[in-house]
Amino acid sequence: MRLDSMRVLVTGASGSLGWALSRKLLPGCEVVATYNSHPSVPAGTEALRLDLSDRDALGDLCRQNKPDVIFHCAAMTNPDECEQDSRRALRVNFEATLEIARIAKDMGSRLVFTSTDLVFDGSKGDYREDDAARPLSIYGMSKLRAEEAVLGIGAGSIVVRSSLMYGMGSETSGTFLTRVTDALAGGRQMKLFTDQRRNPILVDDFVGALMAAVEGDLSGLYHVAGREVLTRFEFGREVCRAFGYDETLLVPISMEDFSYVAARPLDSTLNTEKFTSATAFQPTGIAEALAGLAAEMA
Ligand SMILES: NC(=O)c1ccc[n+]([C@@H]2O[C@H](COP(=O)([O-])OP(=O)(O)OC[C@H]3O[C@@H](n4cnc5c(N)ncnc54)[C@H](OP(=O)(O)O)[C@@H]3O)[C@@H](O)[C@H]2O)c1
Repeated sequence: MRLDSMRVLVTGASGSLGWALSRKLLPGCEVVATYNSHPSVPAGTEALRLDLSDRDALGDLCRQNKPDVIFHCAAMTNPDECEQDSRRALRVNFEATLEIARIAKDMGSRLVFTSTDLVFDGSKGDYREDDAARPLSIYGMSKLRAEEAVLGIGAGSIVVRSSLMYGMGSETSGTFLTRVTDALAGGRQMKLFTDQRRNPILVDDFVGALMAAVEGDLSGLYHVAGREVLTRFEFGREVCRAFGYDETLLVPISMEDFSYVAARPLDSTLNTEKFTSATAFQPTGIAEALAGLAAEMA
């Protein structure tokens, strides 16, 4: 399916992923872009407010706009907030996604749902799509239930799990990279884990992968992530090299030294062979991606 000239609904367009995706879809597509508490979406889109916990509003918005494709990126994304308000997390992340999947099926819209490596418990790493998911947190559990709903309802739907995303962020939502650069640029120390392994991915690469998944007529569950496995501390060092920040501001810590509300997996790295063999997708290497971002932000 070519995305050109399609009517596309992007939920969560005020967030870092939805923002980058909406910008990339323009001007070829007609983009309906939703926000919730931050009324800021890319220029050129049709901006609409949507609170996923309002079921009637969600149904009305989808049916009035009749999108050909729905990229469902909106979610409660802070694992600690999800843990503290599990009812809301389930309503926003799971029940609303279930509703979107039903509506997409009724309307014949293609649904793409973005999920996370935090569906895994992190005990082994290099997870494939058919490995058993055992989330350690309400966030991971809410996203896993949402995945199951999407895959159970819409035969043609796509669920794409990803790892830690980095990029410029939107006007109102940063990424792991901008949290690091904000601290270091301000001369503040940044504590980073030396023992949590992820395969970080450039947001723009993930956007390209989502579009390739639709244009390649994929369906089902896929893992999309960067090609290098790094700890957050190693990522911080790469940031210092690319941006010229002082590496001594990075403070190595262990996950055991930090008390989060929600538990995090130690090694939730994703195996991406299924996706890379189905498409021509090649993620950018971290050093090259960070050098590009440093030049853009200079
Ligand atoms: N960032 C990562 O490292 C990462 C990794 C793996 C998977 N993912 C997945 O990728 C997707 C996008 O993440 P992101 O990094 O772009 O997150 P983000 O920057 O935190 O943005 C979240 C978006 O969801 C919207 N939202 C939150 N609660 C809502 C509600 N009740 N009703 C409607 N919209 C609501 C926010 O709107 P307002 O800001 O306007 O309230 C915002 O647009 C999520 O599904 C996430 O699970 C992210």
